[in-house]
Amino acid sequence: QTTTISVIKADIGSLAGHHVVHPDTMAAAAKVLAEAKSKGILIDYYVTNAGDDLELIMTHRKGVDAPEVHETAWNAFKEAAKVAKELGLYAAGQDLLTDAFSGNVRGLGPSAAEMEFVERPAEPVVIFMADKTEPGAFNLPLFRIFADPFTTAGLVIDPKLHDGFKFEVYDVIAGKYVVMNCPEEMYDLLALIGTPGRFVVRRVYRKSDNEIAAVVAVERLNLIAGQYVGKDDPVAIVRAQSGFPAVGEVLEPFAFPHLVAGWMRGSHFGPLMPVSQRNARCTRFDGPPRVVALGFQIKNGRLIGPADLFDDPAFDEARRTAQVIADYMRRHGPFMPHRLGPEEMEYTTLPAVLQKLQNRFVESKLYQVKGPKVKTELLHD
Ligand code: 13P
Ligand code: 13P
Ligand code: MG
Ligand code: MG
Ligand code: MG
Repeated sequence: QTTTISVIKADIGSLAGHHVVHPDTMAAAAKVLAEAKSKGILIDYYVTNAGDDLELIMTHRKGVDAPEVHETAWNAFKEAAKVAKELGLYAAGQDLLTDAFSGNVRGLGPSAAEMEFVERPAEPVVIFMADKTEPGAFNLPLFRIFADPFTTAGLVIDPKLHDGFKFEVYDVIAGKYVVMNCPEEMYDLLALIGTPGRFVVRRVYRKSDNEIAAVVAVERLNLIAGQYVGKDDPVAIVRAQSGFPAVGEVLEPFAFPHLVAGWMRGSHFGPLMPVSQRNARCTRFDGPPRVVALGFQIKNGRLIGPADLFDDPAFDEARRTAQVIADYMRRHGPFMPHRLGPEEMEYTTLPAVLQKLQNRFVESKLYQVKGPKVKTELLHD
C-alpha cells in the first residue's frame, strides 16, 4: 500500500498587496479539504501559507495526478478566491488562469509537487514553500543535499547513500526532461541546472533502487499565461533519514542565502531568506524572497506535525547575511544584475515600455555590426 503526498498551491489573493494570505481564505480552503477528508478522498491535510501563496498539504491513497485530489484542490482555491473577492483582497484569483477545470490543475495556474511511496516505519519529510521566487530556486539546495558531500556527510559515510542520487531535470522552455546520475555526471548536471530559469530539478531518486527522494513543483506561470502574472512561487517535498539525507543535511544548504530570481514584480535577483512560518511574508521591496520548511512524520497517511524547522537561532546568521545581501543588491536600483536580464524580462511589463522607444532609434550606418549575424531569436528547441 502506498501513500501519496500532494502539495498544491496557488496565490488566490492577499492582504496588503502581495504580502500575506488572509486567514478567512485559508479557512474557506480548509473547509473544502475537511469535506474531502470526510468523503475519504484525503486521509489528512494541513493548510498553510508562504507569504501570499495558499498551500494545501494533502495525503491520500490515490497516487500522483489523481483527478479527485486535484479537483479538491481546485475547489478549495475557488472557494478561497470567492472570499478573497468579497474581502477585496489584492489580485484576488491571481493564479487561477481559467474557469474550466478538466481533471488536473497543471496548466491552470496552481502548481503541484506530488510523490507516492511505501511508507517506512518512520517517514520524515520536509516541505519547503517559497514566496517571491521561481522553481529553479531549489536547484542549488537540492544539488547540495543530494550530491555535495560537503553538505551531506551521509554521501560519504552511509553505505545506503554512498551510490548517489539521480536528478530529473526539466527544460521548462522545450518541455523535455533528462535524467542525470550523480556523482558520475555531476559536471554535466551543473552545466544545466546552473541556468535555473530554464533547467529545473523536478525529481530526485536514490540511484540504488529508484526510490523517490524529492520532488519540486516546476510550473512556470508566465510561460503558461504568456505574460507576467506573478512569480511561480515554488514548493518542494524532500524525504529524510534512513537511506536519505538526514533532516539536518536537508536544511544545511539554506544556511547560505543564495541569489534567486523573483522579489519585486518578479523581476529582481535577491537572497533566499530561510524563515519561520510566522515570518513567511514579504515586505521590503516585496521581499526579500523567503522559504519556510515544515517537517512532518507521515504515519498511515496521517500528517504528524508540523515542526517549523527554520524557527531557530541556528538560521539567524543566514537571515542576517540575507539582509546584508538585500541591502547590497538594492543599491543597484534598476540596473542588472539586480534587475533580471532581457530574456526573463520578456514576460514582465518592460516590453511595453521598450515598444514605445522602438521608433525613437535612428539608424547608425557607420557602426553597424558586421560578422556573424546577431541571434535575435531568444529560444530554440
Ligand atoms: P541523536 O543521538 O540525537 O539521536 O542524533 C543522531 C544523529 O545521527 C544526528 O545526526
Ligand atoms: P507574487 O508572485 O508572490 O504574487 O508576487 C508578485 C509581485 O509582483 C511581487 O512584487
Ligand atoms: Mg501575489
Ligand atoms: Mg507569492
Ligand atoms: Mg506568485
